[in-house]
Amino acid sequence: MTRYLHGDTDATETDRLEKQARFLTRWILDGVEAGPGARVLDLACGTGAMMRRLAARLPDAHLFGADLSLRQLRAARARSDWLMLAESDANALPFRSQAFDVVHWSWLLEHVPPGRALEILREVRRVLSPAGHAWMTEVDNDSLAFWPRLPLAEECFRELWRAQEEGGGDPIIGRKLYGLCRGAGFAAVQTLPTTFHLHHGSPPGYFHGMLEEFAGILDSARESLPAHLKPRADEAFAQVLDLEKDPGASFTYTCIRVRASP
Ligand SMILES: C[S@@+](CC[C@H](N)C(=O)[O-])C[C@H]1O[C@@H](n2cnc3c(N)ncnc32)[C@H](O)[C@@H]1O
Repeated sequence: MTRYLHGDTDATETDRLEKQARFLTRWILDGVEAGPGARVLDLACGTGAMMRRLAARLPDAHLFGADLSLRQLRAARARSDWLMLAESDANALPFRSQAFDVVHWSWLLEHVPPGRALEILREVRRVLSPAGHAWMTEVDNDSLAFWPRLPLAEECFRELWRAQEEGGGDPIIGRKLYGLCRGAGFAAVQTLPTTFHLHHGSPPGYFHGMLEEFAGILDSARESLPAHLKPRADEAFAQVLDLEKDPGASFTYTCIRVRASP
């Protein structure tokens, strides 16, 4: 596993993932469907933040979660003891071939080393039924844009993405998904670039929530900043939150969602 950029399973990071899932669910789970009795896997379920929302959306499906980290799974279990969870690496899943109708995940492939993403996608295809679907949401961190520009915060984010890459992850994995899915043998691959463009005219709560989310990313990963920026992390954090005080400000970010069929 690559070095995790954020705070792993500490309370702040667990809360951040919870908040993020609550805030982003309407986009991330849009279109994800499974009828009564369908078998659904939430891969890299982590602390279960998105998995609990999947359960609420698909109450009659049989939902399973899998994650590499026992600590994350313990945190998931501590919040909801009814979750069915398996400790496993996404590239060697402990499930028979064609076991699932849907495999969903959010924010997994950015954390795996180059080359591993293709193996994971092949493994997902193996456990999917022929009529099943994989639904994935991944980052494209270069797409982040603030208006007005925030030179310090933007420099910090660029350094975080660089640290993520140096740690073996991939901050722009989203834009590679079509090619990777086709390379893994998926026959039909639909890419759904999903842009959050938020400002004071957005529905209440979204602009504020997204600024909090990105300030939180900066906060949880401040230890990964280079020495000259570490002392300025609070300043950068405040810059992101203060954007909300400007009536003309906006936030733009694109994540890449994909629906792939075997
Ligand atoms: C950012 S968290 C996302 C958690 C969850 N999907 C969500 O949206 O809240 C990334 C998760 O990927 C898991 N992970 C990383 N590499 C993995 C691998 N090779 N196999 C399974 N899980 C992995 C980590 O343990 C972590 O729980």
